[in-house]
Amino acid sequence: MELTSVVPWGRSFSEYQAMFSLSESDLTKTILGCGDGPASFNAELTKAAGHIISVDPVYQFNSQQIRSRIEQVYPEVMSQVSKNSDDFIWKTITNIDELGQFRMAAMENFLNDYELGKETGRYIEASLPILPFKEAEFELALCSHYLFLYSEQVDQSQHILAMTELCRVANEVRVYPLLALDGSRSTHLEPTISHLQESGFDVSLQTVKYQFQKGATQMLVVKNVQS
Ligand SMILES: C[S@@+](CC[C@H](N)C(=O)[O-])C[C@H]1O[C@@H](n2cnc3c(N)ncnc32)[C@H](O)[C@@H]1O
Repeated sequence: MELTSVVPWGRSFSEYQAMFSLSESDLTKTILGCGDGPASFNAELTKAAGHIISVDPVYQFNSQQIRSRIEQVYPEVMSQVSKNSDDFIWKTITNIDELGQFRMAAMENFLNDYELGKETGRYIEASLPILPFKEAEFELALCSHYLFLYSEQVDQSQHILAMTELCRVANEVRVYPLLALDGSRSTHLEPTISHLQESGFDVSLQTVKYQFQKGATQMLVVKNVQS
C-alpha cells in the first residue's frame, strides 16, 4: 500500500455505537474492528475498559506519516463533501464545518492512542481477505465504511472471501453501510448474502439509528449459528 493512495478519514465511538446498534452488552464482547483506519472507536472503547483489536493495512505506517497524510487530504475531502452535500443528511452533524471538527477530533484521538495501541497489539497491520486470527477468536467483528461502500474497487468475489474470513474469526459480523459510494445499494450485497446463507450462516438486515450518507439506514448482521 502506498500512503499517497490512502485517504485517512475516521469516525468516532458514538458513530460506531449508532452505526452498529451496539448495546452495553455488545461493548463488553471481544471485538474486532476491521478496516478501522484512523477511527477513534478503539481508543475510546479501550479507555472504557473494552476489549478491541483493530486491523487495517494503513497500520504499516507510523503516527507521523498518518498525521501528515490526514493534513494533506483534509482540504480535498472537505471540498468533495461540500460539492456533494445533497448526498448527506445534515441532522446530527449540522454543517460542513462541524463535520470537519468532528472528524478531526476523532482522528486526533486515534493518533494520540496509536503508538501505544500498536505496541500493545491493539492496532495490527492486516488486510482482508486474510486475517491473522484463529477461528472464533472474537465474539463480534465490525466493518465500517469499507466493504460494500467500495463496490467499484473491491469486486464480488473479494466481498465473498472477505465476509467468509470475518465469519471465520468472529461469531457475529456486522457491516455498515450497504450502499456504494454513489448512494446505490451495493450490487455485491445480494450475492454475498446468498453465499453466506448457503454456507449455513444466519443473515439479516437490520435498521440502525445512524444515517449520514442519504439512504444508509441498514447494517448487515451475520451470525454463526453453531456458536
Ligand atoms: C473509509 S475508511 C473507514 C475507516 C473507519 N472504519 C471508519 O468508519 O471511520 C476505509 C478503511 O478501509 C481500509 N482498508 C482498505 N483496504 C482494506 C483491506 N483489504 N482490508 C481491511 N481494511 C482495508 C483503509 O485503509 C481505510 O482505513
